[in-house]
Amino acid sequence: MSSLNKKQGDTSSDQRPNASDEDALVVRDLTKRYGETVALDGVDLTVSDGEFVSVVGPSGCGKSTLLRVLSGLEERFDGRAAVDGEDVRDGGSDGVGMVFQEPRLLPWADVSENVAVGLPADVDADDPKAATRIDDLIETVGLSGFEDHRPGGLSGGMAQRVSLARGLAYDPAVLLLDEPFSALDQLTKYEQQDNLLDVWEARETTIVLVTHDIEEAAYLSDRVVVLGGQPGRVVETIDVDVARPREQTDDELVAVRERITDALGV
Ligand SMILES: Nc1ncnc2c1ncn2[C@@H]1O[C@H](COP(=O)(O)OP(=O)(O)OP(=O)(O)O)[C@@H](O)[C@H]1O
Ligand SMILES: [Mg+2]
Repeated sequence: MSSLNKKQGDTSSDQRPNASDEDALVVRDLTKRYGETVALDGVDLTVSDGEFVSVVGPSGCGKSTLLRVLSGLEERFDGRAAVDGEDVRDGGSDGVGMVFQEPRLLPWADVSENVAVGLPADVDADDPKAATRIDDLIETVGLSGFEDHRPGGLSGGMAQRVSLARGLAYDPAVLLLDEPFSALDQLTKYEQQDNLLDVWEARETTIVLVTHDIEEAAYLSDRVVVLGGQPGRVVETIDVDVARPREQTDDELVAVRERITDALGV
């Protein structure tokens, strides 16, 4: 994975001079306003192909806004945001899959149907191969047996896992995840984190994960981008140069968590 070749050290602005169109994501001087509110102010971010980057920061610092811009949901912003060298406003976001902060499930559809919504447009959900894929994804997120349940009968954590499976169904080159594990109990969270790492490694996906969870960011990522707010700015970028598989108790990982905590000022 290209992340193994990453440069060492950290930067506060992440303006790599050698950023190229081969980078999966390039964000330059991104400023996003909602009326009087400046949600993001001059954000720079480069994510290499196959890299796993987490974004942490206090509530309201613009983390979800950043993902919304990258996924093409925001038309109006200043600066540049590109996926695989193509501006997100010119179709660059087509190769991006998004797992939203709220599960956003179809209330009238069951779990299988909700996951099938995430299949690429050219895949027929009734095709036996697609059905097997849906079943596999449901198993991956630990929801086998709940295929026929509707969202109204699921817990918040279960709904969140359906949303995660839907995001994985698209099998995107770039996967954006907005706090996908926040409603899960600790044990399920650890399982789902490891599942995500398996998916990332098997499919060589590029991942940007937004999280409040410092332990999660350190454990999962090649690099952690700390945003400060408001308005949201990159405060620090921290390389997590720790071999995988990792243990939460690794001294190096503990040191990374301390650096994130310091950068957050908590
Ligand atoms: N659609 C919108 N209209 C107006 N203001 C918005 C909108 N979306 C976000 N904002 C504002 O932009 C800022 C950043 O919001 P955003 O949702 O990106 O924060 P966040 O870092 O994801 O927070 P959280 O951790 O609570 O999810 C906040 O001040 C928020 O009020
Ligand atoms: Mg958010």
